[in-house]
Amino acid sequence: MSPEAELIGRLERHGQGHLLRWWGELDDAGRARLAAEVAAIDLDQLDRLVAELVQADGTPAPPDDRVRPIDGVRLPQTDGERVAIRRAAGVGADAIAAGEVGVILVAGGSGTRLGFEGPKGTFPIGPVSSATLFQIHAEKIMALSRRHRRTIPLSIMTSPENHQATVDFLQANGRFGLDHVRLFVQGQMPAVDRATGKVLLASKDRVALSPDGHGGTLVALAAPGPGGTPSCLEEMREMGVRTLFYFQVDNPMVQIADPAFLGLHREAAAEMSFKVIERTSPGEKLGVVVRVDGRPQVIEYSDLPEQLAGRREPEGRLELWAGSIAVHILERTFIERLTGDLDHRLPFHRAIKKVPYVDESGKLVKPEEPNAVKFEQFIFDALPMAERWSVVETDRAAEFEPLKNAVGPDSPATVHQRMSDQFASWLEQAGARVPRRSDGSVPFGIEISPLYALDAAELKAKIEPGLVVDRAVYFR
Ligand code: UTP
Repeated sequence: MSPEAELIGRLERHGQGHLLRWWGELDDAGRARLAAEVAAIDLDQLDRLVAELVQADGTPAPPDDRVRPIDGVRLPQTDGERVAIRRAAGVGADAIAAGEVGVILVAGGSGTRLGFEGPKGTFPIGPVSSATLFQIHAEKIMALSRRHRRTIPLSIMTSPENHQATVDFLQANGRFGLDHVRLFVQGQMPAVDRATGKVLLASKDRVALSPDGHGGTLVALAAPGPGGTPSCLEEMREMGVRTLFYFQVDNPMVQIADPAFLGLHREAAAEMSFKVIERTSPGEKLGVVVRVDGRPQVIEYSDLPEQLAGRREPEGRLELWAGSIAVHILERTFIERLTGDLDHRLPFHRAIKKVPYVDESGKLVKPEEPNAVKFEQFIFDALPMAERWSVVETDRAAEFEPLKNAVGPDSPATVHQRMSDQFASWLEQAGARVPRRSDGSVPFGIEISPLYALDAAELKAKIEPGLVVDRAVYFR
């Protein structure tokens, strides 16, 4: 059988024969491209996903009585608890200084809600400097690395759609002076029509592909590098990196490789750890870390039944308190175990999105309403597979304000304000005076480069007490 007939037969058997509808019109290059994209789709897996996530509603949330709050290290209230956190910070600092800590930044998302041309990491977010997200993250790593006199290797996950633009941007900026930066590319999954489960065509010779979710990080870390070079995991093993700090590109306030978090993770001998914040309202858009039948698990906010989301303690706080801010620590050996064994593959979730497609008449349609299902893996699904874990609470105002939207909540405006408020509070702790509006926010931009001060304590050593800050300022 010719390769072409074989391809047609295979697609027909899986009900996806329409993908070759324009075959007769394509030139050789178009045919080769389409054939390669189709060959990369695991059609058996796709059949299962369509049955589970398009034709059915996915895995139902567990019944209420099996879901319990997770135990975690709460924000310290007593001197004893503060001492314990300081001790943990020492353990974490030792791990960094020993070269055992690496950093994984995931930046493969499409950033559709933000609607910015280019990778989200290149968005200028500094409230005064307009520094990009990548620059702010890189400066934190540089500052931490200087403090502990040790290189902290950074691995950045991109996707085929933004890889080259990310490479070019980092190159143009001299990789922000970091010693070790490695980019690795995540996988893609086809998008399917929401009503029929048929794979969509992005053009007559292109399948509509999109990144396979931030859970794709694990498989991508284990995949061989370009030209069969060692995978990221292999390279880390050779460098003696044991513990990986994971974060997402869109939160400029993240405390990268926070030593206290690292120390608590190590003291718990955890395989995976979560930073969380206390949920303040039932509808908050955060994954919720819970126990189901005793095992830890994250339930996406969209899958959490209203009744569970709003269940309260007698004194009024939400019982399922722990909202995940997508800041994790994973042991390298844990990822090796998960990626080495098919039984430990992360499940897929469905995301219902607007995906442009070529219709039956060959016209490109830009849908007004969500028309497609994308399949994505989520990193937090690794949690139930960890033998030991830890959950650590952080202060929302200090560490979490992601950039998701162009306007409204989680937009450049809210991020600028939150960053300025946080830096104002560092200045005040150092004895400076900063005017505040009646709601406590600062009325102008304030920014402190991580290379100037990585935290309030470092700033204190550099600021004259009594300093008055009364206009926009960038400390660098
Ligand atoms: P989001 O789920 O917020 O998606 O990703 P997004 O792509 O940034 O934005 P929308 O939903 O299209 O508007 C959270 C983080 O996970 C990364 C993103 O880059 C971001 O840092 N991510 C997401 C990936 O690296 N790969 C993916 O496939 C999805």
